[in-house]
Amino acid sequence: MMNSESIRACLPPDCSWGESLLYLPTTGSTNDDAKTLAASGAPGGTVLVADEQTGGRGRRGRSFHSPAGSGIYLSVLLRPDCRPDQLMHLTCGVAVAMCDAVESATGLRPGIKWTNDLVWGRQKLSGILTEISVNPASGLVDYVVIGIGINCSQKAEDFPPEIRAMAASLAQVLGHPVSRSAIAAAMISALFRLNKVLLTGKTDILNAYRRDCVTLGQEISLVRGDEIRHGKALDIDEEGALIVQFSDGHQETVSSGEVSIRGMYGYL
Ligand code: BTN
Repeated sequence: MMNSESIRACLPPDCSWGESLLYLPTTGSTNDDAKTLAASGAPGGTVLVADEQTGGRGRRGRSFHSPAGSGIYLSVLLRPDCRPDQLMHLTCGVAVAMCDAVESATGLRPGIKWTNDLVWGRQKLSGILTEISVNPASGLVDYVVIGIGINCSQKAEDFPPEIRAMAASLAQVLGHPVSRSAIAAAMISALFRLNKVLLTGKTDILNAYRRDCVTLGQEISLVRGDEIRHGKALDIDEEGALIVQFSDGHQETVSSGEVSIRGMYGYL
């Protein structure tokens, strides 16, 4: 059973975000809730965790299946004092932080499919949706909402048929039940640590990302609108963009906003 007390009990003493933790048995979307709180002046470090989302949102306008009792749906509000272009590595940092969190809570270190899916083998364990609001007058970041959904306790039949083949839960991979409270606490603690080094630790964050990113070295399909091209993922640049080499030898750097990628034989 997960609730605010069970999560707080698993947080390390140096993580002060437990004080501003809101636990919701059900909600539409924790990212939407965090944005509403941000608009009413909530401070950085405000954390929302839901047992269920009825309107969970994924990237590219997709929905994120968020049933009760099986996943963790978590959003954190941050208020970094910077321009938006200083946060190009943010999503990479969140993905690495989530690998750290899963590893510390379960012993299992997932890989990262560029840009920010946590994967085990060819299956997706977790997705991340980062949203940034900029103050139009100053051009500075007003707030950032980081939303993470992670599959914890699902069995194969709990996933909708259309994602069943490419989704997995931590319990499926580990072969035993997991404590969602311990994992949620590890996620909060990892994001707390990331927030401290976000503006100073870009090089280390991107180097850690390159180590975890299973896309590098792979033959991939690049999808931009209706156009699909094939190439090889070579590296991650200093902004978190993917450097791709095409069969004629030329290289392009692509950002997550403009393309999505697939492995040559499916999701990964
Ligand atoms: C993706 O895989 O496309 C990203 C999924 C992000 C889902 C999380 S769950 C918590 C937060 N609230 C949302 O509505 N979305 C994010």
